[in-house]
Amino acid sequence: MKLEQRYEGKAKKVYATENPAEYIVEYKDDATAFNGVKKAQIGGKGEINNAITAHLFPLLERAGVPTHFIEKLSEREQRVRAVTIIPVEVIVRNVAAGSFCKRLGIEEGTALSRPVVEYCYKSDALGDPLINTDTAIALGWATNEELSRIRELSLKVRDFLVPFFAARSTRLIDFKLEFGKTLDGTVILADEISPDTCRFWDAETNEKLDKDRFRRDLGGVEDAYAEMLRRVTTPAQG
Ligand SMILES: Nc1ncnc2c1ncn2[C@@H]1O[C@H](COP(=O)(O)OP(=O)(O)OP(=O)(O)O)[C@@H](O)[C@H]1O
Ligand SMILES: [Mg+2]
Repeated sequence: MKLEQRYEGKAKKVYATENPAEYIVEYKDDATAFNGVKKAQIGGKGEINNAITAHLFPLLERAGVPTHFIEKLSEREQRVRAVTIIPVEVIVRNVAAGSFCKRLGIEEGTALSRPVVEYCYKSDALGDPLINTDTAIALGWATNEELSRIRELSLKVRDFLVPFFAARSTRLIDFKLEFGKTLDGTVILADEISPDTCRFWDAETNEKLDKDRFRRDLGGVEDAYAEMLRRVTTPAQG
């Protein structure tokens, strides 16, 4: 049962439950971009992102990544383990896109000869600025050991997801992860994995099938999210 609301973010609400070790997350249709400057609703997004995350997290768990996911409760809700979110967003890049291209003056789609793991300070007020691991340690956001574990788990997520999506005609260009700590200090994957937090390009056409359709006014936003749910839940081809 949902008790009081604990957080409301841009895409989800988090509620307490009778069990202090568990929360209920409710996925909303609200979409924001450019640090909240652009706002809209994406029809069906809450249900789609809930379904995609609820599909992927148990697969990741089986691949050796501990996650907060317990069970899907309804079209918009899932039960998760309550964690203290580590205020470091992890971005894993396989192909250059987005802010990486802007920052470095390179063309979107440029191949990277190895995955790139980047860290940002999770702060809406500051626009999630890029940091390095020294910064996170020096400011007490995470320990060296926690950051090593976060990097290891992030690359495990990548190693699972890249072939998973490749088998479903989709290039995983980059993605953002959030980790949290349980009461006993274990680092687990939290938050979500969805078209809000990943860049997906069609393997044949490079058509964008993610939140960039909203950010860049490309149209067909709802259709792209629905197509990604279909691909995620379709058995691998070939
Ligand atoms: N298992 C969990 N326990 C506690 N908090 C969680 C858990 N999973 C996700 N959260 C947090 O829930 C909040 C709401 O999620 P939402 O995606 O709406 O945030 P957001 O607006 O994207 O903001 P942020 O930039 O802080 O992620 C986020 O702060 C997220 O870190
Ligand atoms: Mg979020």
